Amino acid sequence: MRVLGINAIFHDPAAALVIDGHTVAAAEEERFSRRKHGKRPVPFSAWELPEMAAKWCLEKAGLTPSDLDAVAYSYDPALAEDDTAPWEELRTTYAWRAPQFLAAALPGLDPEIVRFVPHHAAHAASTGLAAPFGGNCAVLVADGRGECGSYLAGRYENQMLVKLAEQRLPHSLGLLYEDLTEHLGFLRSSDEYKVMALASHAEPVHLDLMREHITTADGGFQITPIEWNTLAKPPDGELLQEHAELAASVQRRLEEVLLELATWLHDQTGERRLAMAGGVALNCVANTRIFAEGPFDEVWVQPAAGDAGTALGAALHEASGEPLAPMPGADLGRGWGDDEIEQVLRTAKVVYEKPADLAAVVARALADDKIVAWFQGRSEYGPRALGRRSLLANPCYAANLERMNDVKGREQFRPIAPMVLESRAHELFARGPVPSPYMLFVHDVRPEWRDRIPAVVHVDGTARVQTVANDPLLERVLQEFDRRTGVPVVVNTSLNTAGRPMVDSPRDALECFGSSPIDLLAIGPYVVRR
Ligand SMILES: [Fe+2]
Repeated sequence: MRVLGINAIFHDPAAALVIDGHTVAAAEEERFSRRKHGKRPVPFSAWELPEMAAKWCLEKAGLTPSDLDAVAYSYDPALAEDDTAPWEELRTTYAWRAPQFLAAALPGLDPEIVRFVPHHAAHAASTGLAAPFGGNCAVLVADGRGECGSYLAGRYENQMLVKLAEQRLPHSLGLLYEDLTEHLGFLRSSDEYKVMALASHAEPVHLDLMREHITTADGGFQITPIEWNTLAKPPDGELLQEHAELAASVQRRLEEVLLELATWLHDQTGERRLAMAGGVALNCVANTRIFAEGPFDEVWVQPAAGDAGTALGAALHEASGEPLAPMPGADLGRGWGDDEIEQVLRTAKVVYEKPADLAAVVARALADDKIVAWFQGRSEYGPRALGRRSLLANPCYAANLERMNDVKGREQFRPIAPMVLESRAHELFARGPVPSPYMLFVHDVRPEWRDRIPAVVHVDGTARVQTVANDPLLERVLQEFDRRTGVPVVVNTSLNTAGRPMVDSPRDALECFGSSPIDLLAIGPYVVRR
């Protein structure tokens, strides 16, 4: 069965392709259109489809639209309730018309094969059916909103979703966090991770108040309106301690609530394994508390936990009548042959070389405190750079935090993260899970290592670790760097500049390299030096 999954309804439009139970391609539209998040998250943009991503998925598999058995769209307008919010009826109308829009975007597609998949069933499938467990598990979706709900808890039995609890709107952990994000002067549906980072700079002084406003019962929760202004006025240009305290208070309560919900779900299911998705599941601080303090032995989070992941989830949901393979990794996007890369370098008339040992050249540059743009293999599905489109640096110098944030033109309170050889992770990091290949958990940096890798240690002594295994080239870079410095860790952040989507194509890589103080670009087997 050939199923194309489409996410278009709220934000982060994306497409994914599942063939005979195998995930063969998945990509976000922003990587093609070069517009961050693909479109604005407003009801009247719901007609915009991930056209380029969808066309590429088909091209990758050598298919035409008429070869598809189904198109799975991650929203079901039949479940949408009458909503008085401005423009909301447009969202529903556009969703109903999606089959026609898709047929126009993908000539040859029969609109009759388009299936509507409930938004949270798509999130649930993106994790419960894609997880490496390969079997039954509990599933928890914590989101901003779907058609009429914000949360789903259940289990997968023989690839079938059994729902045990749902939370209807307006109660929403995701929307609560988005409201706070906006109140603190950031972009909602986009900058929530900045609030999480800010939260670690203060104590949760309003925690008791948050416990009054946000309560759990019967596997769901209730949230009464919070007057943000009485706790901290919106920042006037500068973030103050009171803003960090407010962020810390909401963050801490969110962690408590998710732990309570996960415990309820464990009591109901008795499952050992938990799969998570939804935008709130990108909160790696909360994820670690669920892993470290919760009742489940294993916790897996879909790397594209936000709405982009519902493209894959909708396709898996639709394909679940046949055996499904776990997703093979997050590198499901575009890749480029050596010849294609060399052609781009030649066209750009840049000087390049093809070293005999690329890993050694990169490790030496990093040991010499150079900044390296690393472009290898297929691009990542989801918001994290995981060693395909990454910016690498030396973690041994505290100044590299500021330097990397300068390269990327972003706020100085933003942390940068380490990648570490999986086989060495336990020596340096504790509390979070190992392996942790998708940077969706924070780990405690062991005290004896904190001064050795200061660039990646957050103010609270944690780090958002990516463990590296089954990637011979990147492992060699880490091994060579370790041989030179005694440190099996390098800084890894996404290869992009502020406000731009992650680099996807070789040309994007050259543009990024050319416009920022990066010392060396390792692209396929080639090296470009500044
Ligand atoms: Fe969602």
